[in-house]
Amino acid sequence: MLAIPALLQAQVPSVGINDITDIFKPLGTQAELDKAAALLVCYVCLGIFLVVGGLIAYAIFRYRRDPNDNTHQEPAQVYGSNQIEIAWTVIPILIVFTLTGVTARIIAASQDAKLPKTALKVTVIGHQWWWEYRYPDLGIVTANELHIPVSDRSEANAVYITEQSVDVAHSFWVPQLSGKTDVIPNRDNHLWIDAHQPGLYLGNCTEYCGTQHANMLIRVIAQPKAEFDKWVENERRAAVGSGGENALEAAAQAGASGAPMLQNASLNTNAQQPQANSAGTKLVQDKLVFESLACVNCHTVKGTPAIGKFGPDLTHLASRSTIAAGMIPNTTADLRAWVDDPQTVKPGCLMPSMKLTDKQLDQVVEYLQSLK
Ligand code: CUA
Repeated sequence: MLAIPALLQAQVPSVGINDITDIFKPLGTQAELDKAAALLVCYVCLGIFLVVGGLIAYAIFRYRRDPNDNTHQEPAQVYGSNQIEIAWTVIPILIVFTLTGVTARIIAASQDAKLPKTALKVTVIGHQWWWEYRYPDLGIVTANELHIPVSDRSEANAVYITEQSVDVAHSFWVPQLSGKTDVIPNRDNHLWIDAHQPGLYLGNCTEYCGTQHANMLIRVIAQPKAEFDKWVENERRAAVGSGGENALEAAAQAGASGAPMLQNASLNTNAQQPQANSAGTKLVQDKLVFESLACVNCHTVKGTPAIGKFGPDLTHLASRSTIAAGMIPNTTADLRAWVDDPQTVKPGCLMPSMKLTDKQLDQVVEYLQSLK
């Protein structure tokens, strides 16, 4: 359990909250196969334990010391029993072959499965300490919250994942969906998943990858296909607050209706600058502040000059329920604390404090919250 109560309550619109990371409650085909194999091994081991433990207990009891026997003689010794030797050779061989066969079948089902051409392709890229998700066929790049369509009886929607790392070895594991697969630099690993129920599936990086390994959390949001398609549609466009167009239009309208407006789209530090008094104008100013800061060197906001690739894509940041790789909820207070000094929130993370003034902080947070 990743028991961070506030996070589990973080809302995912119209999707049931499903907060368990229990391998014995699988909700995906691969996790179900893994559970079956795990249980089979457990039952076989339990059987061996009962037989061996039972024989030992029987021998201890049956051949215990007889208080009336003072001869101190050893019991009769048995040498070279063919039956016993055949039994302890053949039975383990059968067990090993059975387990090998079952494991081979499951490995084949997970690695060599032929997925339909329509399977959703996602590239999962491990970074210290967050996840980048690319949907190459859809032209979407997002971070830390992986949206997938539900795969149930009405519609099979397998997701074909290619895993890459830009720095060190990570490992991708969402226990209710599948087994774990390592994410290795300079190598493509593959995995497929299918979620049988809508909901939030939690996971974690499971290969030690540095200071904040434990806070490299995975959130998979499985949605009914129609809802997923809506999400895709929104992700594909530039965020409302990002495109100067929408904001500038709003500013222009504000100007036309008599309110003062910005003369141009450059950051005007002139004290004579008219005060913004419409949401649109304000947003333009927030946007310009953001774009004047070094944030743009590491982050992308689609449709703006921010095209950095080192940090997570922020185009639709406000539509995510968490920040800092699933570590804290995406609320105004948490977002502000994060932008102010990421090192106090997630020590060792690779985002520096930009030493912003209170006003700049407010503006950057407002801008980020407009990125729906
Ligand atoms: Cu990434 Cu541990």
